[in-house]
Amino acid sequence: MKITLTTQKKVKPDFTKLGFGKYFTDHMLVMDYKDGKWQEPEILPYGDFSLDPSTCVLHYGQGIFEGLKAYKDAAGKITMFRPYDNFKRMNKSAERLCMPTIDGEEMVENLKKLILIDQDWIPTAPGTALYIRPTMIATDPMLGVHPGHQYRFFIILSPVGSYYASGLTPTKIMVEDKYVRAPLGGTGEAKCMGNYAASLLAGDIANKRGYEQVLWLDAKEKKYIEEVGAMNMFFVFDGVVKTPALVGSILPGITRDSVIKVLKSEGIPVEECRISVDEIKENVKKGTFNEAFGSGTAAVISPVGVLGIDGEDVVINNFEMGPITSFLYDRITGIQYGRYEDKFGWIVHVN
Ligand code: PLP
Ligand code: COI
Repeated sequence: MKITLTTQKKVKPDFTKLGFGKYFTDHMLVMDYKDGKWQEPEILPYGDFSLDPSTCVLHYGQGIFEGLKAYKDAAGKITMFRPYDNFKRMNKSAERLCMPTIDGEEMVENLKKLILIDQDWIPTAPGTALYIRPTMIATDPMLGVHPGHQYRFFIILSPVGSYYASGLTPTKIMVEDKYVRAPLGGTGEAKCMGNYAASLLAGDIANKRGYEQVLWLDAKEKKYIEEVGAMNMFFVFDGVVKTPALVGSILPGITRDSVIKVLKSEGIPVEECRISVDEIKENVKKGTFNEAFGSGTAAVISPVGVLGIDGEDVVINNFEMGPITSFLYDRITGIQYGRYEDKFGWIVHVN
């Protein structure tokens, strides 16, 4: 891999006020696909791309991405959380969008080199991390609607704090009953750009009504819970943790999978099933709706304090983080930051 280091390092931001996805490190990794194969990857100074205005991704959205994190402890030890799973999922997204797959094992090795070069950018305070964004776009300059022949894969790095401005304060989420995110057979389980563009209007309306995000329902009956824009959802009804089954329209979250495995290993009952809005309402009535939380790389484990259903707010656990949510936040971040033993083999060492 060719490596060109920058001669002009950027001034770093205040690491106590990072927010999410606002700052980018000094270098990036770029790899182009042409003549039917991936070319040699390259690490180079972070900078602009020059694209022809007819570039395929700019018109038809043939683009996919991933999100994962690297962490640095006080002793300077750097780790990543389940990176191979991100590249596996990226390859599934690539297949769904007629894009070439990449060698995930090799890319993890390349990524380690990129992270080491920019290791001064990894924040160490609790709740902060280096967010890693692998992306792939179709770069053919042509307006025909068919799969491209040229692609660019790139990885950029961003030091981040909490995804939600409110941090660990429970979020308010609106159950969306007009717009839908993904029908069965659509691209819901792929991490493709268009899914996010299509979600913006509903998100904007929800924001104006005082909610942080929308909770999507199934596209056919608008009865069953699917997920939130950047996280999978979990509900605790009468001590049982339930999450929507991966029916094809939901992103198979890596944090979701980690939550399920941690719960199972602790003997806490967890079910992947269909969850209807009616079931939520019934549990509210019976007083057995104990907790709700979302899971995601950016969102980590994020307590939900209010669900807006049919114009009415259901307050969950007195707008406080519940015991199972707290336990999972502590355990998952504990494994990520090295406070707990990683008995699942999720941690990959960078140095
Ligand atoms: N659902 C959507 C739509 C997402 O964008 C994300 C974030 O990647 C998730 C769920 C959570 O997935 P993961 O835990 O792999 O970050
Ligand atoms: C992530 O958690 O990695 C996401 O992609 C969420 C969002 C920023 C799109």
